[in-house]
Amino acid sequence: MLKKNILLGITGGIAAYKAAIIVRLLIKLGCNVKVVLSEKAKHFITPLTLATLSKNPILVDFFDPENGSWNSHVDLGLWADAYIIAPATANSLSKMALGVADNLLLTTYLSARCPVFFAPTMDLDMYKHPATQKNINTLIERGNICIEAQSGELASGLEGKGRMAEPDTIVRKITDFFEAKLDFLNKNVLITAGPTYEHIDPVRFIGNYSSGKMGFAIAQEFANRGANVTLVSGPVNISTINNNINRIDVTSANEMYEQAEKHFHNANIAVFAAAVADYMPVIQADEKIKKSSENFTLQLKKTPDIAKLLGEIKRNDQINVGFALETNDEVVNAKEKLIKKNFDFVVLNSLKDEGAGFNHDTNKITIISNNAKPIMYPLKSKQQVAVDIVNNIFKKITSIQNGQK
Ligand code: CTP
Repeated sequence: MLKKNILLGITGGIAAYKAAIIVRLLIKLGCNVKVVLSEKAKHFITPLTLATLSKNPILVDFFDPENGSWNSHVDLGLWADAYIIAPATANSLSKMALGVADNLLLTTYLSARCPVFFAPTMDLDMYKHPATQKNINTLIERGNICIEAQSGELASGLEGKGRMAEPDTIVRKITDFFEAKLDFLNKNVLITAGPTYEHIDPVRFIGNYSSGKMGFAIAQEFANRGANVTLVSGPVNISTINNNINRIDVTSANEMYEQAEKHFHNANIAVFAAAVADYMPVIQADEKIKKSSENFTLQLKKTPDIAKLLGEIKRNDQINVGFALETNDEVVNAKEKLIKKNFDFVVLNSLKDEGAGFNHDTNKITIISNNAKPIMYPLKSKQQVAVDIVNNIFKKITSIQNGQK
């Protein structure tokens, strides 16, 4: 029995008729269910059906026009243990991504402090459209859980991806979430993520294309599994809302080192996912450098190697995991980094693999450790790759506890 307070948000897509089954399945699991409908959703499923099944009045407006009673989105958000938006249309997803608050369903989304699940549904071309994909990714990066659309026959008569996941799949995702083991409870995890920017002058810097997505996905996975995460991030375009993540924004390698060093002593696990600039300008100009001679030389010096410096002071009870982004002799180079930086294992990405590395939503990794064969994984979403990495760290902890090296 799940026995949770579940708020179900239904937006106006044809799959709304399946929401009745979601309500029934949740009630069978002993949940209290309240339903919020968007105005358009009422065209696809009647409030009477949902009120009968959920045993609660259906909420659509901010207030009841009959008696003026107020439907508080804040109270709903606080009441819910989980907010499921199913079906989530392209229109509602875009409003959620932007923070538009023009109906009760959306204001409740903005107020909700609980985990939010959303099950997209739409025609295949709408689903594939970069605007929709960007909105879905924004929500995932924010920590919302996407219950992926499935392929099949669509209401338009076309075949493709865009069908809402089946009600039993949606409900299983929710039960899995609540039954997931908090296997990193009370563990302190330090993660570096994103690029660093090294100041040349007030308008220029040395940087790189790292998006920070991989490091943020790892932070999210650890936080979901109960860890206290300190995320030291270079300049990125990702937002984080998770009570278990303490995010510290930095700009340069020096600042990242300072913060990472401060939190390392208290960490049980450190994951170095940042693409730290290797060099910084010797002189960091206060004024804009003006164009003058034909050639211009910028003198650079090494930045602190954060992973190496912290590897040198690593205690036996700490686990350090590094990344290696290589273009050639990948395994040899990764093994070198493993030893040089005292990592417990290295996550290798090859830039030769399509869909892997910087700025993609997917990644293809190989895990390299000292005493085991490399473990190769297929191309996966960065969220799924984060699960693989965190699972490997869990295995490592277990083997240390069992006295194996
Ligand atoms: N790293 C770090 N601080 C640096 C450089 C790298 O903490 N100044 C970490 C990265 O976060 C990554 C690992 O070290 O976990 C390897 O990074 P990479 O850039 O591949 O290695 P480098 O040592 O910089 O070697 P090279 O660029 O020559 O391949």
